Amino acid sequence: MKIAILTGAGVSAESGLGTFRDKDGLWTKYDLNEVATPEGFARNPALVHDFYNARRKNCVEATPNAAHEALAELANSQHDVTLITQNVDDLHTRAGSPAVIQMHGALMRALCASCDTRWDAPLVMDPADSCPSCRQQSTRPDIVWFGEIPYHMDAIGAAVSNADLFVAIGTSAEVYPAAGLVELAQGRTLEINLEPSARANAFDDHRFGPATEAVPAWVAELR
Ligand code: OAD
Repeated sequence: MKIAILTGAGVSAESGLGTFRDKDGLWTKYDLNEVATPEGFARNPALVHDFYNARRKNCVEATPNAAHEALAELANSQHDVTLITQNVDDLHTRAGSPAVIQMHGALMRALCASCDTRWDAPLVMDPADSCPSCRQQSTRPDIVWFGEIPYHMDAIGAAVSNADLFVAIGTSAEVYPAAGLVELAQGRTLEINLEPSARANAFDDHRFGPATEAVPAWVAELR
């Protein structure tokens, strides 16, 4: 079976990485206009680097949970799986999923805003860092900020529309274009989340519960 999976912050919540919009979520503590937009970065790059440095530290200290592991098992099974994530952590990869599509970028990667070179991010990034290629002091986290276009949209659209099953896991469906992918699906659609998302009505089937329980239970049924 061809399965396209979209994950969000809820998949990593039980690894100790905060979600964005839940009570105590990151966007209740930080102003996303200041830390997650190109304009915020232009105003105060040190503040933005501090925010992502803290998140990178949390990510390095976190370990994949049973949901990441079950999805890796599925990706390595007889099924044809495309794993798309909005998450900028690397927990799907560390759990063993091959070829994860990180549509919102990667905490562990750095990007030169001048020449588009990418490289492995150091644990702590600083506005004074220079690009290893062009030497400009215009390095930024390789994160897709609000107002920027997510990565790999053509491949994502093709995978979702060609899938027999599209599954969204641990996402509030508040952020587009990810939240609109369900509209492209021509096969059956399933939402797995703690609670109904903003787009719950667009899905055929639903399973509600913590990702570490609901995802392994669903994967076990596909064996
Ligand atoms: P959100 O924080 O918006 O939503 C997290 C979802 O996960 C909510 O629907 C929760 O109910 C659910 N959830 C929380 N804990 C869970 C658990 N243990 N098991 C299952 N579900 C759980 O996060 P995203 O939808 O991923 O973008 O947010 C989308 C984008 O908004 C992010 O990629 C980020 C953010 O701004 C950028 O930074 C560009």
